[in-house]
Amino acid sequence: MRRYHVTTFGCQMNDHDSERIRGLLESSGLGEASSPADADVIVFNTCTIREKADGRFLQHLMHARALKQRDPSKRIVVGGCWSESMKDTLFEEHPFVDFAFGPGSISRLGDYLQAGGTLPEGHFSTFDEFAGDLPANRERPHQGWLQISQGCNSVCSYCIVPSVRGREQSRPWQVLIDEAERLVADGVCELTLLGQNVNSYGRDLPVSDRRSFAELITRLDAIERLARVRYTSPHPKDMRGDVIEALAASRTACAHMHLPLQSGSSTVLKRMRRTYDAARYLALVERIRAAMPRIALTTDIIVGFPGETDADFADTLAVYEAVGYDHAFTFIYSPRRGTEAATMAEQVPDDVKHARLEALVAVVQRHARERNAALVGSHQQVLVEGPSRTDPSTARGRSDGNKTVIFSPPRPAGSLVDVVIESATSQTLRGTVAATILA
Ligand code: SAH
Ligand code: SF4
Ligand code: F3S
Repeated sequence: MRRYHVTTFGCQMNDHDSERIRGLLESSGLGEASSPADADVIVFNTCTIREKADGRFLQHLMHARALKQRDPSKRIVVGGCWSESMKDTLFEEHPFVDFAFGPGSISRLGDYLQAGGTLPEGHFSTFDEFAGDLPANRERPHQGWLQISQGCNSVCSYCIVPSVRGREQSRPWQVLIDEAERLVADGVCELTLLGQNVNSYGRDLPVSDRRSFAELITRLDAIERLARVRYTSPHPKDMRGDVIEALAASRTACAHMHLPLQSGSSTVLKRMRRTYDAARYLALVERIRAAMPRIALTTDIIVGFPGETDADFADTLAVYEAVGYDHAFTFIYSPRRGTEAATMAEQVPDDVKHARLEALVAVVQRHARERNAALVGSHQQVLVEGPSRTDPSTARGRSDGNKTVIFSPPRPAGSLVDVVIESATSQTLRGTVAATILA
């Protein structure tokens, strides 16, 4: 049997797309290999969000080239966002690549395999089909992804995603409900709704079929055996009253929201084209917390955006302090080809960017430690993900607020337990099972 190996880079959208890529490879009769070296078809699902992502992938690609030099029967396939962003020069620069496709053309991989996989060919820029409509080989039995939309209509000036993932397209309502029900029947108890901008869901649907993100959150509650719903990422500009109300009233929506801030400086936000300023963001957080007092908030922040001054950076720290996030992903601004910000004057020097990142990370860590310490003594609802990797007398799971919880005694993956928290670090909570909510 011919075998494949898929290496995935980037965000959860790519993790989900890779489930579909593996599904396609398996429906074409290939079996999974444990490493690229053991595979006949070496597949990469790529990311290009920052320069570092490109660098990491290129190392893997060079390794694959070396494997192919030793065994020319191997096939190298490159999908995903980097692939799309390189469509004009990919085959010229990397002639050993056999097949390439963009994130909207995953199903073309099936055609390539059916055709015997001989011609070097690329499929880009057309949006053929939602990955979610393709067969899947899911990695986690109890957790499922539900892609609700594809692409992004925002024009954040630093971001390459709209140019590689295209305009926003929502999946039809009934398709989503059917898929959610299928996943739950298949054993999934936690669904994560995926989209670049989840809370603008539905706006592009025909009027007769138009439903909103708020309606989706409410509807999912009716799926009886579904215990939890997560979603990533909402955009602050679309976090309207109906969405907050639906989340607050929901049985299944987790008490966690990832709400990307990007910068706390209103002038930087304007140049980023985020369409909100610091005051509006803070007011939004207040409304969210008023409706959902227990909610854990996390965010994304970029330091060193072109023209960012010390005062701008101080504004970011001030908003961070004011919100008191549970955690944050922090990034150094990376100029991306074809984006508006890449050509802006006043690029911030590397040493300044690094110093700001370091200062921000210290604040993030302090808040994470404090927010977690405040949970000692509390009860957390935990979805068990599996045994702890280091200590078999404990198991690992995730709280409603999306924190890693290590607890004893161990319980089987997929159960939902109530854990009393006894200690905490900035990264994890530890505790003891007090009750089983769902076996
Ligand atoms: N659509 C999602 C995620 C976008 S990518 C959203 O808008 O929330 C994830 C994060 O990468 C972004 O939130 C941003 O913080 C970061 N990012 C995007 N482009 C970047 C760039 N050019 N340099 C540094 N960080 C970037
Ligand atoms: Fe990129 Fe902005 Fe769209 Fe997010 S909302 S994917 S940061 S353009
Ligand atoms: Fe990367 Fe594409 Fe996701 S660029 S972050 S894999 S949308």
